[in-house]
Amino acid sequence: MKNDGLDYLTIALPKGKLFPLSTALLARVGLSAEGLEEKSRKLVIANDAAKVKFIISKTADVPTYVEYGAADIGIIGKDVLAESGQDVYELLDLGFGRCHLMMAVPRDKRREKLSDYAHTRVATKFPHIAEKFFNSQGIQMEYIKLNGSIELGPIVGLSESIVDIVETGTTLRENNLEEIAHIMDATARLIANRVSFRLKFDRIHRLVTAIQAALREGKEES
Ligand code: PRP
Repeated sequence: MKNDGLDYLTIALPKGKLFPLSTALLARVGLSAEGLEEKSRKLVIANDAAKVKFIISKTADVPTYVEYGAADIGIIGKDVLAESGQDVYELLDLGFGRCHLMMAVPRDKRREKLSDYAHTRVATKFPHIAEKFFNSQGIQMEYIKLNGSIELGPIVGLSESIVDIVETGTTLRENNLEEIAHIMDATARLIANRVSFRLKFDRIHRLVTAIQAALREGKEES
């Protein structure tokens, strides 16, 4: 998709848990649009008065839209950003969407040491982050990429362990899984395309400043 000149700012927003938090934050700094809803059938929604366009994207695709300049900026979880390896500017830690990536195993099959899992299968949506982590521990693993419901892996005998996101811990508990290694913390980040950042510096800079103020206010209120 091409941007309509330099006067519009195109923002990629992820569907899912971060969507309502992202739109609420942007609305607080004056960026909203009629019909901007996660379930909208219209995938590009513009507010011509505010000169802004929103792209509603699958979470994992947000860094791609931003790297290639189809979106000037985007909001994405640090976990998905790190996994994507996409070359974008990380402008701000937005603080919401807090979770962490970890390794978990069935509670009743826990082995003594992490290295006891060497050469076993690990199911994950984050094979690059997982591989980096296990390499740092000197452990070789077999990675099985899944796209959702990762916790099913050990339950159906597809893998011995999982590397996945934990937010409240409910999914782990309900599936009798136990965290055995913490890999990384994650929160939502504001990212920018490198060229857009230069070409639209003033607008993006103003937006970053406004978001920082809104986040500070939010903290003071809570
Ligand atoms: C994520 C993650 C876990 C769950 C963790 O899945 O993959 O399954 O949330 O949250 P909890 O600790 O609060 O239980 P998501 O809902 O994004 O869907 P998915 O399993 O299809 O990826």
